[in-house]
Amino acid sequence: MYTCCRYYGLEGLAGHEGDASFSVEVNHFTFGPGCLREAGSHARSLGMKRIGLYTDKLVRDLPYVATVKRSLEAAGCSVEIYWECEVEPTDRSFRAAAQFAIDGQFDGFVSVGGGSVIDTTKAANLLATYPADLMAYVNAPIGEGRAVPGALKPHIACPTTCGTGSEVTGIAIFDLLSHQCKTGILSRHMLPSRALVDPDVTHTLSPAIIAANGFDALSHALESYTARPHSAKAKTYDGFDGAKRPMNQGANLWSDMGARESLRIIGQNLVRAVNDPSDQQAKGAIMYSALIAGMTFSNAGCHLPHGMSYAVSGLVRDFKPPQGYPQDQPMVPHGMSVVLNAPSVYRFTGEAAPERHLEAARFLGANVSDANVTDAGEVVAKKLIELMRAVNFPNGLNAVGYTEADADELAERAFPQQRVIKNAPRDVTKASLAELFKGAMRYW
Ligand SMILES: [Fe+2]
Repeated sequence: MYTCCRYYGLEGLAGHEGDASFSVEVNHFTFGPGCLREAGSHARSLGMKRIGLYTDKLVRDLPYVATVKRSLEAAGCSVEIYWECEVEPTDRSFRAAAQFAIDGQFDGFVSVGGGSVIDTTKAANLLATYPADLMAYVNAPIGEGRAVPGALKPHIACPTTCGTGSEVTGIAIFDLLSHQCKTGILSRHMLPSRALVDPDVTHTLSPAIIAANGFDALSHALESYTARPHSAKAKTYDGFDGAKRPMNQGANLWSDMGARESLRIIGQNLVRAVNDPSDQQAKGAIMYSALIAGMTFSNAGCHLPHGMSYAVSGLVRDFKPPQGYPQDQPMVPHGMSVVLNAPSVYRFTGEAAPERHLEAARFLGANVSDANVTDAGEVVAKKLIELMRAVNFPNGLNAVGYTEADADELAERAFPQQRVIKNAPRDVTKASLAELFKGAMRYW
């Protein structure tokens, strides 16, 4: 921890531009092969009897829903299944899922699926527990930004992919159809009560899904590690009211710990996990790193690669995702829409915290012994590009259908994502965002 005290201003309260303190809230999780079979015992300990089990059409035919349902029923719970969660959820699909929750009068929820399913379940739980229009709780200025009043009903989250970390975040993201943009709800009350993270689910993930999920997790960790320090972020509340401290509080000593470990594990395992489908150990490692990276970014917050990704996925024209994703409409998978921006971003942010960028590259496996701090951003970018090439990832935004002529529109669409953009270590304008998009068009 070369300069942690200086980086975070631990020498004292005086002179802080931002919040001198940070908070840590994590949920209970279980990790290990076969742990989905514990669902019933966790439901029982949480007092759940009448359960709404949320999943989607892709997952419902895999063995995991049946495993979890059997375990819940063996524990004496009644289970009603909702399988209409959407892969890219919208305000419409969130509302439909909430109506099922309201009608079902459940006393607890279980989600079995990817981040979209888990996010949908959080929203359904919220709207069934504290009824209001969805937009009341959505982040301002797009929504009203009303605080979630208190604890929700218990929710056991069972991820079937290995990237989003949604099982350990208090975030639910969706497409707001009327605005054609991604937005969401953030609250520590939406943290699932339990997460059951079973690496055996990676058996059924295609290499392309593991690649995109793995890069999503990598980016959660890397953005958290290079985020603006909590002590240097503009404080959004007065005095010492810790309950008002935002979840995206900036980099801190605790999130650094998770980021380092996630980057180290992903650096050692991502290429193996994608390129050798028989390497179950590497795939399990990616599942674990995604869990840790999820807790990390839930605590610190992401920044530019994620802020820019929502425009990349939202303006998609005709890019068909690789095998393993739904093929019925054009789509840039989330992890892909994030990491394609990343080398361009770190070339820009490197100068804001060069030692941190060099450290991050080293955790990912780069040799930085001869690197100069003035090259820090480039060193990170090179390592990311090396990993992208090693798993046959698209070569920048060009490869998913964009050209430099789209940069202004992409920037226009990304700029409202101020919650994440302001977490970046350097300030950006719409014009500099457009330059970052231009820099992300082609890498090799
Ligand atoms: Fe993400």
